[in-house]
Amino acid sequence: MARACSLAVRAVAACAVLAYLGLGKRVAVSWDIGYVADTRAGHTLRRAIGANGMLPIPPVAATVGDTLELTVHNSLDTTTTIHAHGLFQRNATYMDGPAMATQCGIPPGASFTYVYELDNAGTFWLHGHDHHQNSDGLRAPMIVHDKPGTEPFAYDQDILLPVEDWFHDEFADRIKQTIDPNATFPPPHGYASGLINGTDGDSTRPLRFEPGRTYRLRLINMSALMWFQFSLPGHKLEVIEIDGEYTAPLSVDGIDIGPAQRYSVLVSAYPTVAANFVYNVTMHANFIPPTAGLTPRTYIGQVVYREGAPRAATIAPAHGSPDFQWLHDIELQPLDGQPALVPDRRISLEVGNLVYSTGQHLDHINNITYTAPKVPTLLTALSMGAAAADPRVYGPQTNAVVLAHNEVVELTVNNPGDLPHPLHLHGHTFQIIEVGPAMTQLKIPEEYQSTTVRCAGPFPPRRDTAVVPEYSYIKIRFRADNPGVWFFHCHMDIHFAMGMAMVFVEAPDILQQTLRVPQEMLDFCRARDIPIAGNAIGKSGLDFSGAPAVPTVVEPQPLKHPN
Ligand code: C2O
Ligand code: CU
Repeated sequence: MARACSLAVRAVAACAVLAYLGLGKRVAVSWDIGYVADTRAGHTLRRAIGANGMLPIPPVAATVGDTLELTVHNSLDTTTTIHAHGLFQRNATYMDGPAMATQCGIPPGASFTYVYELDNAGTFWLHGHDHHQNSDGLRAPMIVHDKPGTEPFAYDQDILLPVEDWFHDEFADRIKQTIDPNATFPPPHGYASGLINGTDGDSTRPLRFEPGRTYRLRLINMSALMWFQFSLPGHKLEVIEIDGEYTAPLSVDGIDIGPAQRYSVLVSAYPTVAANFVYNVTMHANFIPPTAGLTPRTYIGQVVYREGAPRAATIAPAHGSPDFQWLHDIELQPLDGQPALVPDRRISLEVGNLVYSTGQHLDHINNITYTAPKVPTLLTALSMGAAAADPRVYGPQTNAVVLAHNEVVELTVNNPGDLPHPLHLHGHTFQIIEVGPAMTQLKIPEEYQSTTVRCAGPFPPRRDTAVVPEYSYIKIRFRADNPGVWFFHCHMDIHFAMGMAMVFVEAPDILQQTLRVPQEMLDFCRARDIPIAGNAIGKSGLDFSGAPAVPTVVEPQPLKHPN
């Protein structure tokens, strides 16, 4: 109903009535995406990407049942798109955003309105999904509140705490240095700084706690590369949401948040004011050699109960003490008690970094380094008739897997290399079933050879971005109940750009019967001479004549990874 509302121009009055009836309102946000000059976090002037001349881009908030209309105008000199990370985009995969997977980029000077039906409450984020523009600033938190009176947990105040890495160099320069076959290692693109709430980590405004109150902190890692550990010593963090899925509450002392992951935690303030506290945000990446003052790097935020109260003397339990409990997401239980799905189909994936015939070290899934097709994968799925069920039509470098409607898929992602990867699936959350030591002939460090960890209870936790640790595998499951084209990729942008990506083409037969891509999206393709039908290069069937040669693996062993 809400969708019909948002699309039909004459239905504005009807929408007002629906909103009055509590059936959801229309929330309009508009972003003029353009270059801004930035000097945050002690960096010298750099070019960055903001919206309406602002960086950070302010958070967007709405309520379940609302229709969020995000109108973007592209004032860049290159194409752009926006992805609402964590939204399912049911019956609207073309609103998902990833360039050349579900749409052609919005050309410079053009505008487009993304229409998001908000069917799930939770903590999400909006970010660029073309040319890795998120890494250059095009990213903002998005909160979908429960309808009033339907919150599963009680709290007094909602506090947003997005964290992000921030580099001096633009992404295009960093990736160029990283994949240059003649470059020295490590690439000279420098260290990131950490931002909290969009400002330099240490100067973020204090949190104000009132005695006896309960706060919901929403932690979002909007990084291009870095991890963040969060703790509020002297207070427990009660986890209630991961990536837009409510969980049964679990109390911990600290959370390590991978790129693109989100957590909501409830924090109970002390009943009386004895002291003020601090929270710690430590930016780190275990694959970057520790360098004093640069990485890991801890930012301190103030938690003020009363101005002038003494700072808590004991910070207990301290990081590193045996009493300090880190969250392991696999120990969480979903609040809805959904049992483990029973797989219909098992798919094995291996991720890593290999030397290719181009002379470059590139990332891959199952030896294929992802390269965007010439025709957006969705348009191939819609135009190829019965052949859309043949994964080969999507080209030799998209790693496409075609899924049947409603089949339960189990992915086992094996990561024999020395880097962790935050793997994100679009259009779904998935159950985390198991994490264990990598299946490999290579010698892996002793501490990774430990026994396999299965989800703790009968109900596996669900989320949309899970970390496969270094030297490990992860087993995840989801039901293919959302026809569409859905990316699956590492959310460290350097790895994504180096090819650690693939696409699931879910129920192309249903898509062909039900989906009508808005004309203006097809016009974006035409404006840039991109075919809107045919296989990955716009030809029929499996005709790939004239396509560029596919890079092949020349060095099959996993290597030390350039990051
Ligand atoms: Cu957060 Cu493919 O995206
Ligand atoms: Cu990665």
